[in-house]
Amino acid sequence: MLHFPVMLEESVDFLINDLNGHYVDCTFGRGGHSKLILSKLSNKGILSSFDKDPDAFKFGLNINKENFNIYHDSFTNLDKYFVDESVDGILYDLGTCSTHFDNSERGFSFNKDGPLDMRFNNNEGIPFSEWLQNADSKDIMKILYKYGEEKHAKLIVNAIDKVRKKKPILRTIELSNIIKEVYPGKYKKVHPATKSFQAFRIFINNELNEFKDSLEIAKRIIKKDGLIVTIAFHSLEDNIIKNFFKPNKKLFPKDIPLNNQEDKLFKCIAKKIRASDEEINKNKRSRSAIMRVFQKI
Ligand SMILES: C[S@@+](CC[C@H](N)C(=O)[O-])C[C@H]1O[C@@H](n2cnc3c(N)ncnc32)[C@H](O)[C@@H]1O
Repeated sequence: MLHFPVMLEESVDFLINDLNGHYVDCTFGRGGHSKLILSKLSNKGILSSFDKDPDAFKFGLNINKENFNIYHDSFTNLDKYFVDESVDGILYDLGTCSTHFDNSERGFSFNKDGPLDMRFNNNEGIPFSEWLQNADSKDIMKILYKYGEEKHAKLIVNAIDKVRKKKPILRTIELSNIIKEVYPGKYKKVHPATKSFQAFRIFINNELNEFKDSLEIAKRIIKKDGLIVTIAFHSLEDNIIKNFFKPNKKLFPKDIPLNNQEDKLFKCIAKKIRASDEEINKNKRSRSAIMRVFQKI
């Protein structure tokens, strides 16, 4: 099954304000948003898409259009490709694609057996299993609390410690069973390993820091009147966006009235847009999506 793009029409409608403009899709995935952007642009309009996942990149190579570029790179490197004030719109559709969970070999899924990897770019860094084997228990616990808001972090870490003392945890199913076995209460709808897998994935991909770094670059390379459209899937991502575009009041002493210098760099065009009921019925993943739109002024 392919990935269902979330808030497709709405996000692309916000993004494009010049059909001859240059747009950037930071998270190509399986190209849902990219394809719609391309279908709207004129021949003079350009789309440059990025994905650090090699499978997503390969998928992007199938789009043969002169006004389309696909880069196998992280969105933290946008400044290698664009100078300041040069692009008309930037889109981030964060998180995972459903294709990540469908392919057990990528190690994202807690209910499909595969190597415990979880990296978007599996050509770089180390698989999660390798990190887990050597990590300090306190660090594992911090990650579970911080990125998963997992209140049973301590129980989970104790269970992991017991097993990894004897042998490394190398498979997704091993880890999800370890968590399931110690998790208090009856397992109903939500699998007990859901929060832990989310936390570990965010950590091993350095997702939140990369997103913050990329927004810093986006802020510079976007033209005046250009739009930054973000789709987040949990509060940790959404808080980064909200706070990023807030005026930095600490920069100014209390007694000097804010003349909104920072404030005036971007204006909020749309906040906290949710998927329609119709979309949520068709695609459960869209239930947690929050879209925000900011414009450089
Ligand atoms: C939700 S999916 C995007 C789906 C896409 N909009 C579509 O309609 O097919 C998010 C994608 O972002 C990619 N990604 C995550 N972090 C990234 C980063 N730092 N740089 C580039 N791509 C990244 C993931 O590999 C994944 O393919």
